[in-house]
Amino acid sequence: MKKILVTGGAGYIGSHTCIDLLNNNMEVVIVDNFSNSNEKALDAIKKLTGKEFKFYKIDYTDKDEMEKVFLENDIDAVINFAGFKAVGESVKMPLEYYTNNVYGALVLLDLMRKHNVKKFVFSSSATVYGDPEKMPLTEDCKIGGTTNPYGTSKLMIEYILQDLYKSDNTWDIVILRYFNPVGAHESGLIGEVPKGTPNNLMPYISRVAAGKLKELSVFGNDYDTKDGTGIRDYIHVVDLAHAHLKALEKLNKEDSGIYIYNVGTGTGYSVFDMINAFEKANNVKIPYKVVSRRDGDLPVSYADTKKAKEELGFVATKNLEDMCKDEWNFQKNLNKED
Ligand code: UFG
Repeated sequence: MKKILVTGGAGYIGSHTCIDLLNNNMEVVIVDNFSNSNEKALDAIKKLTGKEFKFYKIDYTDKDEMEKVFLENDIDAVINFAGFKAVGESVKMPLEYYTNNVYGALVLLDLMRKHNVKKFVFSSSATVYGDPEKMPLTEDCKIGGTTNPYGTSKLMIEYILQDLYKSDNTWDIVILRYFNPVGAHESGLIGEVPKGTPNNLMPYISRVAAGKLKELSVFGNDYDTKDGTGIRDYIHVVDLAHAHLKALEKLNKEDSGIYIYNVGTGTGYSVFDMINAFEKANNVKIPYKVVSRRDGDLPVSYADTKKAKEELGFVATKNLEDMCKDEWNFQKNLNKED
């Protein structure tokens, strides 16, 4: 497999994946409208890989513009990162979320069918498990019961992909269910730049460490967990990016099919674990206060990673210290720019 179309390739996970693809001698065509990213990520990809790639500044829901991308490039496979992803924002803007995430995926899949490109890697989320039936989560756990438009958009696309495969089993699809991506490229040149105040734990912690936010609010210390705070499966974004390469390898070597994998480390850390690890790794202080639980939060969520290991050969290699160090390294670079 050679030429990969990456929608949302300038974004947080997309940019890290493009680096990995280019470093593994694949050709990359990036589509991004910079709705939650910017040109700096593209410059960084070039700098870090020393490789060229094609870039289109296009909204991936624009079918006519997207058609040109398929006409001008001989695409072998598509990875779709062009989703909106903020849970709270999705509650306020459901139409925008369903349009961008679900309609956008439909536009893409329709064009893929038309141009006979039937290899697809989709960024799904552990959120599709809803209220989990067991822990760790295995891929055969029931899905559904999502509580916000973001989560429901991921769920809908999973259903659409299943139906698509049923209708035409020459499609070859990998669905990756991400757990909690954190950290940044070790160069400090790319990472997550949330719009406004971050909602997620790790970017919030790093902004507190940088003095940009006063203190962290810990959302509840009365869960039935070892220290009362919520437990999640945090995975370094560089590891997560690599799972996409493994997914492409799978699409290349297997007969067609639709495959689903959890992408996590299999280890759960509490909010207090994260605060302590960040303080220790970076020799900084994270002031915090405990507040009430956040609506819709699960007590515990972590992956069973066996299937990804056995079928994709994917195992996360970076530990919590790497995640904290790389996150802070990137944050310090952002501080220099301020
Ligand atoms: N938390 C705090 N304070 C904060 C932010 C988070 O205590 O300021 C806690 C949360 O309560 C939770 C943990 O830190 O226990 C992780 O919260 P995140 O917001 O970082 O991540 P979530 O697990 O809530 O959400 C993530 C992704 C979503 C996805 C969801 C379920 O960000 O996109 O996992 O898969 F939908």
